[in-house]
Amino acid sequence: MPETVLVTGGAGFIGSHTCVELLAHGYEVVVVDNHVNSSPRALDRITKTAGRPLAGAYRVDVRDRRALSEVFTAHPVDAVIHFAAHKAVGESVALPVEYYDTNVGGTCALLAVMHDHDVHRLVFSSSCSVYGEAPTVPLTERSPVAPTNPYAHTKLACERILRDVCDHLPDMKVLALRYFNPVGAHPSGLLGEDPRGVPNNLMPYVAQVAVGRRERLDVFGDDYPTPDGTGVRDYIHVMDVAEGHRVAVAHLDDQAGLRVFNLGTGTGTSVLQLVAAFGEASGRPVPYRIVERRPGDVAELVADAGAVAVAWDWRTTRDLTAMCRDAWRFQELNPDGYAGRPPRAGGPTTGGTPCG
Ligand code: NAD
Ligand code: WQD
Repeated sequence: MPETVLVTGGAGFIGSHTCVELLAHGYEVVVVDNHVNSSPRALDRITKTAGRPLAGAYRVDVRDRRALSEVFTAHPVDAVIHFAAHKAVGESVALPVEYYDTNVGGTCALLAVMHDHDVHRLVFSSSCSVYGEAPTVPLTERSPVAPTNPYAHTKLACERILRDVCDHLPDMKVLALRYFNPVGAHPSGLLGEDPRGVPNNLMPYVAQVAVGRRERLDVFGDDYPTPDGTGVRDYIHVMDVAEGHRVAVAHLDDQAGLRVFNLGTGTGTSVLQLVAAFGEASGRPVPYRIVERRPGDVAELVADAGAVAVAWDWRTTRDLTAMCRDAWRFQELNPDGYAGRPPRAGGPTTGGTPCG
């Protein structure tokens, strides 16, 4: 029997790519998403890209324990990947209660329902933002944590809860993955990042400038202590993040309890390096101007990616050129994101359970 993985937030950026990766490797996949930050059309794109249907897709808020429980009753869930959360740092400062409610409350509701249904295996989306202002890079999983905003605090709070739950329930097996900066898109151009409104993050903003939806990029500061003065980050291709989740699910039984891993490449890229690489990949130079630093930004965040390499014998394989090329392909084929017409690429449409 193939394993069934329930993916919360499966219509979102990372969730949708992970669903495709799981389907491509024979897993049965059930999606739960309330679409607060995603389009239900992403679900059609998942089945189209994978050439296989989802086992189920439900419009459910993870905080709604009764509705979530019905999903667990309807499917023989073997493991859960929990992506569903709010993720915008700036918004979290304005709406801290909403962030704690969804991110922490949603995780508690999920854990309670998993417990009721005897499901003990979980991969949790954490974030490099838990490290805050890093005194030294690269960051290992043992580097000090010092969240600087409510969003990052919610992720660290969830890790703390997961540790306590694992201490209390010896059957629990949990992997918390601290992703660095996921970017890029599926190489088919069918799936990608489709942010609502003005993008908060660098890569989708650059892509929208290149396609002509925005006039120019504002580069937030060129006076950081980095080689060219602009912020340095560890960008990781979303397909590597997706693959990392598929590999994580296969390693859930390696040990009981909670383990925390970084998910990054170990390579730092500055804003100006990314702008140059994107211009090269798209054939369209990206106009930009230097403006003030963005409050709360740090100079450099780069992962030490060694722990997963040792534990799973797995490493990322896609470089910055692939990240820019694939992000550009999605942007060019879907100038209006999922709201526009789907491009003529990818495999056959296979349908899937309608979003209930
Ligand atoms: P996303 O917003 O594209 O996806 C999140 C999905 O969860 C969306 O489809 C949204 O509709 C859904 N969702 C939100 N609240 C929900 C709720 N209460 N019930 C059901 N569904 C709900 O974000 P993403 O970039 O795919 O991020 C996925 C996860 O990875 C998040 O937990 C995020 O915090 C974490 N993360 C993201 C990044 C990044 O840069 N993208 C980096 C580190 C960690
Ligand atoms: C990258 C670099 C900016 C936009 C965020 C979250 C973090 C994690 C990953 C979820 C920085 C610069 C950006 C722009 C710019 N997400 N920039 N102009 O801030 O590293 O991390 O995403 O867990 O929690 O904070 O990513 O893409 O916003 O910024 O110059 O219009 O690009 O200053 O140096 P960040 P980002």
